[in-house]
Amino acid sequence: YSLKNYNTFGIDTKAKWFASVTDTTVLKNLIETYKDKENLFFLGGGSNLLFTKDFFDALVIKVDLKGIEIKDETEDHVIIEVQSGEILHELVLWSIAHGYGGLENLSLIYGNVGTAPMQNVGAYGVEIKDIFISCTTLNIETLETEQFSNAECKFGYRESIFKNEAKNKHVILSVRFRLTKKNHILKTAYGDIQNELTKRNITVPTIKDISDAVIAIRSSKLPNPAEIGNSGSFFKNPIISKTAFDEFILRFPEAPYYSVSENEVKIPAGWLIEKAGYKGFRRGDAGVHQRQALVLVNYGNATGNELITLAYEIQSKVKEVFGIEISPEVNII
Ligand code: EPU
Repeated sequence: YSLKNYNTFGIDTKAKWFASVTDTTVLKNLIETYKDKENLFFLGGGSNLLFTKDFFDALVIKVDLKGIEIKDETEDHVIIEVQSGEILHELVLWSIAHGYGGLENLSLIYGNVGTAPMQNVGAYGVEIKDIFISCTTLNIETLETEQFSNAECKFGYRESIFKNEAKNKHVILSVRFRLTKKNHILKTAYGDIQNELTKRNITVPTIKDISDAVIAIRSSKLPNPAEIGNSGSFFKNPIISKTAFDEFILRFPEAPYYSVSENEVKIPAGWLIEKAGYKGFRRGDAGVHQRQALVLVNYGNATGNELITLAYEIQSKVKEVFGIEISPEVNII
């Protein structure tokens, strides 16, 4: 069964078995019946993974649970429960149409609601953890449902418990978010957002203005997976010690950077990759995007192996030129 249409990189991996599931009971039954727990693989929007093998000797289950429900409402807030198969960007548009704030900076991020907490997706100063209350999961071993609070998810920069100690142990079924109904505190500090608002002569932005600005920015530099296969940022932005940074910035005074804490500094991997000479690089159908060097792309028929080979090559070049280790954000399967 080809998974080409189920991963945004468009890799033509074949799976032994495939199921798309729209009901929790069916999901439970399927896992229970399929004895080989080691060879089960759960798929959401397929927007943050790279398949590197031609054949997947597994049962691949696409979790397609749908629904958005208002669970509680006060004068200021609304609490919504969203099923994991809902598309994140569609949820963002739904929230804006209802006048609910909190998700607008996450506009046009590809992928599903259920996988967003796994790597704590984020953009333009907002991360999913900022509005996340809890999620309900199905424990694959016990087949019981469990709750994870925001603290229990151990969110970090593109990190959560689901990429670490709870990896491959749970399927996220639904997520609860807290959104604002009034007195929205908009996050407009990012230079790109400010420039976009200025360009549009907006001085007092609404949540919709922010969403529109983010959509414009992302569309201008990130490839649309419907046109060119990709999984967004392929690498995380590296965080280095202040000591290493002091040395780095003497050698590369023009480098952009953000201070993370007193002792740590984040360097944009896109800048490092561009300076290492890889922006717009192409070998066969595997390449580095022309407008954002942090994004690896599949121009058509690249294999996962060709992409990962390119990724390793970039990693070692960046290490050689800058002495900085960059690591993948994308899940390598
Ligand atoms: N830059 C370059 N060359 C490039 C790309 C970037 O010099 O080819 C420089 C830019 O000029 C800028 C800096 O690097 O000074 C940062 O670039 P940008 O604002 O485009 O953001 P990013 O750090 O490359 C991160 C996230 C994105 C998110 C944006 C905006 C990660 C791994 N990526 O990218 O998230 O949209 O910030 O908040 O943290 C994603 O995770 O898939 C993703 C797209």
